[in-house]
Parts: sequence; structure tokens; C-alpha cells
Amino acid sequence: MTESRQVYKCNICGNIVNILHAGMGQLVCCNASMELMNEKGQEEGLEKHLPVIEKKGDILKVKVGEVAHPMEENHFIEWIEVISNNESWIRFLKAGDKPEMEIVSKDKDFVVRSFCNVHGLWKSDKVVESKNEFINFDDFEKVDLRIAEITDVLPIEGSEKLLKLRVRLGEEERQILAGISKFYSIEELKNKKVVVVANLEPRMMFGEESRGMVLAAKDENGLSVIVLDRDIASGTKLS
Ligand SMILES: [Fe+2]
Repeated sequence: MTESRQVYKCNICGNIVNILHAGMGQLVCCNASMELMNEKGQEEGLEKHLPVIEKKGDILKVKVGEVAHPMEENHFIEWIEVISNNESWIRFLKAGDKPEMEIVSKDKDFVVRSFCNVHGLWKSDKVVESKNEFINFDDFEKVDLRIAEITDVLPIEGSEKLLKLRVRLGEEERQILAGISKFYSIEELKNKKVVVVANLEPRMMFGEESRGMVLAAKDENGLSVIVLDRDIASGTKLS
């Protein structure tokens, strides 16, 4: 017996079917039972399969992966499907396409599935409402952005992502943890001047205190910390 919206695969020929109407029978292909595909909702490490769903007004934008999934000839997202209460939309993709889709809908609840030809079926229903609100100047002033010079860098035992940075902000020395070890070597970071949020509430990670946050930008090609165009003294406040 099947259920509506289940996805089945033939492990012999590769046929994949999406159930539009449930029936009592068992699906058979190539003289063998078709396998019900598991919709995975959690991922270890860099998230590149789970759909990221953002809603702004009536526009729903879906991207596959916090870090965009590869779209190479032998490894890519074949399709993305958006399902609401009474409607569904599906976009078929090929290598080289961006693993994204956009629809217009007044519905509020959505389930989005993505299918990777290597890693199977993934699902998310976490819709983030994106509000285009302005902040006033006083709000901006609350964020203490400063130039910090990295004086030393150490790995953190037990963490694959985090590095422990010793930074100097003028006269002050402090420690900031940054999840950048996959993108930078220790040598590359030493003596770099970066931008930090200096008044971020301290927090503990892996038993170490982090006092601030290093600003960085990330896209499908990697991550870059924000550095200066000209040399400016550490501790200088950005405005
Ligand atoms: Fe994949």
C-alpha cells in the first residue's frame, strides 16, 4: 500500500516515481519491489542537501543547502519540489544550474524536497519569514564593529570547524572562536587584520570562551574573512 507523495525507487533500473494517488498495491519494477525512499531531514557537517526556505511576502525562495550543493555532471540536484496544502511545484535541474527555485504562493506552510542523484531524498519544512525592515541609526550604533589584529591561532581539540584566535584591539587582548578552519590555515590568519563585532555577548564553545565574532562572507565557492583595503590601527571603531 502506498501513500500520497511517497517517492519510490527501483534499485535495478533507477526508475523513480512520486505517488499522486495512493493505492493498495505494491509497486514493482524490473520484477522487484520498488524501495520507498527515506526523506532525510538532518545532515552531518556542512549542510548542502537540506532545502533552505525563505518567504518574503508571496514569494517563496528555495536554495538547496546552506552551502550550495554541487551541480556537477555526476553529482547534482535533479529536482526540487515545493508542496503546500493543495498545490505542488517541481523544478527539474541539470548540471551547471543553480540548485534553487522560486514560486509565488499565498500559502503559509510548505514542505520542500530535494533529490540528489548520489545522496538521495531530503526534506525541510522550516520556512523563514524574511522581513525587509530598516534599522535606525541608533540600532546600528549599538553594534561595536572594530578592527582586530590576529596575533595567534590555535586549533580546538574536538572541533573540526573552530579555531581559537588571539586578537588585539588596541591595548586590549582577547580570545575569539571562529568556524573558519576549513577555509584558512593557521599561518594564513596570523597577523591578519579583520573586522570583529566587539560587543557580542560572550559565549562558551568546546569549553572555551569566545568574546566577539569575526566577520566573514560565505558563498558556494568558500568563505572569506573581511579584511582592510588600507592599514588601519587595531582597535579602531568602524562607522
Ligand atoms: Fe549530494
